Amino acid sequence: MTRRILVTSALPYANGSIHLGHLVEYIQTDIWVRFQKLQGHDCLYFCADDTHGTPIMLRARNEGISPETLVERMHGEHQADFEAFSIGFDNYHSTHSEENRILAEEIYNKNREAGHIQTETVHQAYCNKDALFLPDRFIRGTCPTCGALDQYGDACEVCSATYSPLDLKQAACALCGEPPVQKSSEHLFFQLAHFEPFLKEWTRSGTLQPEMANKLDEWFSTGLKNWDISRDGPYFGFEIPGHPGKYFYVWLDAPVGYMASTWHYCKRSGRSFDDYWRPGSTAEVYHFIGKDILYFHTLFWPAMLQGGGFRTPTAVFAHGFLTINGQKMSKSRGTFINARDYLNHLDPEYLRYYYACKLTGRVDDLDLSLEDFVQRVNADMVGKVVNLASRTAGFLQKQFQGQLSAAYPEDGGLYQTFVDTGDEIAQLYETREYSKAMRAIMALADLANRYVEDHAPWSLAKQNREAELQNVCSVAINLFRLLLTYLAPVLPVMAEKTREMLNLTELTWEGRRHPLCGTTIQGFKHLMTRIDPKQIEALLADSRPSGATVGVTKPVDPPSSPVALPSSPLIALETFAQVDLRVARILQADYVTGADKLLKLTLDVGEWGQRTVFAGIRAAYSPESLTNRLTVVVANLTPRQMKFGLSEGMVLAASQENNTDKTALFLLSPDTGAKPGMRIQ
Ligand code: MSP
Ligand code: ZN
Repeated sequence: MTRRILVTSALPYANGSIHLGHLVEYIQTDIWVRFQKLQGHDCLYFCADDTHGTPIMLRARNEGISPETLVERMHGEHQADFEAFSIGFDNYHSTHSEENRILAEEIYNKNREAGHIQTETVHQAYCNKDALFLPDRFIRGTCPTCGALDQYGDACEVCSATYSPLDLKQAACALCGEPPVQKSSEHLFFQLAHFEPFLKEWTRSGTLQPEMANKLDEWFSTGLKNWDISRDGPYFGFEIPGHPGKYFYVWLDAPVGYMASTWHYCKRSGRSFDDYWRPGSTAEVYHFIGKDILYFHTLFWPAMLQGGGFRTPTAVFAHGFLTINGQKMSKSRGTFINARDYLNHLDPEYLRYYYACKLTGRVDDLDLSLEDFVQRVNADMVGKVVNLASRTAGFLQKQFQGQLSAAYPEDGGLYQTFVDTGDEIAQLYETREYSKAMRAIMALADLANRYVEDHAPWSLAKQNREAELQNVCSVAINLFRLLLTYLAPVLPVMAEKTREMLNLTELTWEGRRHPLCGTTIQGFKHLMTRIDPKQIEALLADSRPSGATVGVTKPVDPPSSPVALPSSPLIALETFAQVDLRVARILQADYVTGADKLLKLTLDVGEWGQRTVFAGIRAAYSPESLTNRLTVVVANLTPRQMKFGLSEGMVLAASQENNTDKTALFLLSPDTGAKPGMRIQ
């Protein structure tokens, strides 16, 4: 049955460039959409620029242009970036559009008529000089808790305290430095609490991943707060009907952009907007988002739709955040990488493949380890996939005018295995388990390469065993075609080149069932080159703030406060809570032959079972000294396959940063009395 599916990615803010973090989401979504299309489903992919709000207004003011001009320029830049990464939106619209204004007003009006909007007076910081109500981020001052200077109006980056901007000491407008005054104003509040029963029902109906449902339970238990949906002018946004001088807060009309983009597309293509968004719609509607905007998409948005008389989404899929080399993207480390800079140095399909290797259906963060990136792309894409065609297409071309064997040759069941695995791969794409899908595809690529090695077409050619040579190369090319069919959602450009090379009108999932026989192929096309690590260095150098020199070992981020204490990027308590630290008893410690830095530890982690961990502590400890000792283990680390065995966690030890003296290591231990398996928190 053909499914009718509407898919969205979150709308990027129009005041910044697309970077590699954003691309996690757009690549994840695009792969899913391409997969659905390849399956023959009627799937549409919509997005838009998120244009409204104070930051955009102020940036335009700074550049001496109108917000409209800025928004238009960014729209062009974003679209060019997305196109270069093959993000195949069916429509890319803007929240600053007539469609969006009409729909936002409709949703607001219906909610107001139903009694879901109420007025309250709020007291807010106001800058007389700029004639502007100041959002929290536009106020700087001294932290009321720890006294750190120059902190934002809502939270202190030094002590992590959160507070109201009115409590900040020596508060100053971030634009002009004048102290703000307190001013009161009438605001409109969306009564989220009215929707609690509906939301509880909606979130239980299979719409959310389990981790998200837990998060929501937390929010329900702390109580749903009413939501301030208005802002005073000057504000770049839509004026609220019946409230001159007041504007919809950017997050009110942003998700409506999903609908506006649909409408804009429907007008062009003759489709029906109502079939997607009005009650009774039988289409599936999915939102792909980052975990940071969960609240907006799982509480405000379904409630607004419900109160506005529209249908609600089928599901919301959240992904985690990108780290680069294990750390948050950082300007000074050169790892805050813009899409444009990446494109100047590297093929976009490298990144699409690498992200696919890392993405799961869960909300986990994912790491772009640059070393692993080079290695993975070169080994898999070039070494396994491209190589398969490059080693065999040439023979067909040179000796058989590109013609494949007339009947599909005996291949020991290989082709059938490839076809059958397609069902499993489809299931993995559908559930967004791309990482598992890539593993399944690479396992097939290994089989195909082993077949070629076993049948050595190069020796068949030397021995003039023509029929056999044509058969072996025909098998290889047919297997290559199935690999590229399975990889097509991830690598649209390479799949397209393959389609041309094989003289096919299209690659489809169903089409894979029938092998190509007797048809001709074109000569081997250049498909993808290896990554040279120098390209990565050049990219990082480009991404560093100007003035920084290339090759500096480890630039340090500027301290975030004028107090010159060492500091690290702050993390939320929830982030820390993701690390499962447990007390462990070292049952046994052993030397590892061939590894002079390692000890193999057998740990008792109570009800968490026994674990084997390889720890780089041999220089500091003898195995005997460790037996029976308590320590701390990271219990939920992804197990790591090492040359010597599987390492199922990590023990914690203290050492000097950049320490070269491996004996200066201090294993952590809890006080006596602690029991193996206890959680450290
Ligand atoms: N404008 C809002 C979304 C409105 S949707 C109605 C917004 N924009 S954003 O530009 O900040 O982010 C766009 C999407 O990219 C979000 O889903 C966000 O989670 C995602 N990402 C932004 N930085 C990211 C990483 N570093 N890593 C992974 N995803 C990230 O939020
Ligand atoms: Zn000011």
